[in-house]
Amino acid sequence: MSDSIILGIESSCDDTSAAIIKGNSILSNIAANQEIHKEYGGVVPELASRAHQQNIIPVVEKSLTKANIQQNAISAIGFTRGPGLLGSLLVGTSFAKSLAMSLDVPLIEVNHLQAHILAHFIEDANPMPPKFPFLCLTVSGGHTMIVLVKDYFDMEILGKTIDDAAGEAFDKIGKIFDLDYPAGPIIDRLAKEGNPEAFKFNKPKLENYDYSFSGIKTSVLYFIQKEVKKNPDFIKDNLNDLCASVQRSIVEILMAKLEKAAKELEIKEVAIAGGVSANSALRKAMQDNNEKLGWNIYIPKFEYTTDNAAMIAMVAQLKFERGEFTDLRTSATAKYDL
Ligand code: KG4
Ligand code: ZN
Repeated sequence: MSDSIILGIESSCDDTSAAIIKGNSILSNIAANQEIHKEYGGVVPELASRAHQQNIIPVVEKSLTKANIQQNAISAIGFTRGPGLLGSLLVGTSFAKSLAMSLDVPLIEVNHLQAHILAHFIEDANPMPPKFPFLCLTVSGGHTMIVLVKDYFDMEILGKTIDDAAGEAFDKIGKIFDLDYPAGPIIDRLAKEGNPEAFKFNKPKLENYDYSFSGIKTSVLYFIQKEVKKNPDFIKDNLNDLCASVQRSIVEILMAKLEKAAKELEIKEVAIAGGVSANSALRKAMQDNNEKLGWNIYIPKFEYTTDNAAMIAMVAQLKFERGEFTDLRTSATAKYDL
């Protein structure tokens, strides 16, 4: 891999992030989170867009300072073109275009989902990068899918959620428990002190590699409504057990289809990616399958799981090597297939 220096910019949802990569080694990876959405229990698109506008210049400047890089050392600029919230994407896209124009360097568009998967090729993401072909369970707040990765830019979606994403399920169920947004990491933390066998929730029965998470959300909601009638403090009294049980159910749903795909396709190279891959129970389940099923597992370093610009810079580097540049007339796109 060439050791060109590339700036990556990510602004697809509620994190404004900038990273500098040299070859496949990350020199800086800066993110500004948007606390404002906590008050609303979810991401408010208009507020996200405005916060990106405020954050983008300081975040990019910080990424350069931290990496000890001058602007004129940058060979190209990579940015998330989609999928995501249009108003958010527009901020990163416009900024990347202007900077590429003023520095007179190539502009490189990046698909956010590809980036979650290709984050595995960042030098310090894994002790070893995955070998093609591998399976990648890509799980975030907006997506849940099993991807067959045949090569860097040759990916096939084997199955995906037909309703909510796994992260969305964590967040919506967290809301039922009156937890802050995003609830995924909070449920993970509270589950550590709870009994995962305490409560049982409905599991979807889908034939192929598709997922469904709206059933478990409804099942939790009805269960809570029933119990709270008997004991108004039911959630408070059982919070750790509730979180552990929900987490167990979601992880079991995720792993069942991944195991089915690995078995049927006879693939033992198995990776996870996206925000939910930070989940400790999912990581543990992967570890167990390394021992039980002989999987070679790839779990990215924590900082490359939730939205970050390091993964955007990584894809931009791979495209830079291939000479795949983007016209300056490009625009952001909310929907963007793999
Ligand atoms: O990839 P990401 O940062 O953004 C999207 O592209 O959606 O994923 C965010 C999602 C949120 O739903 C959040 O609750 C979930 O990832 N998440 C977790 C954990 N950390 C983040 N879910 C469960 N356990 C975690 N430790
Ligand atoms: Zn993401």
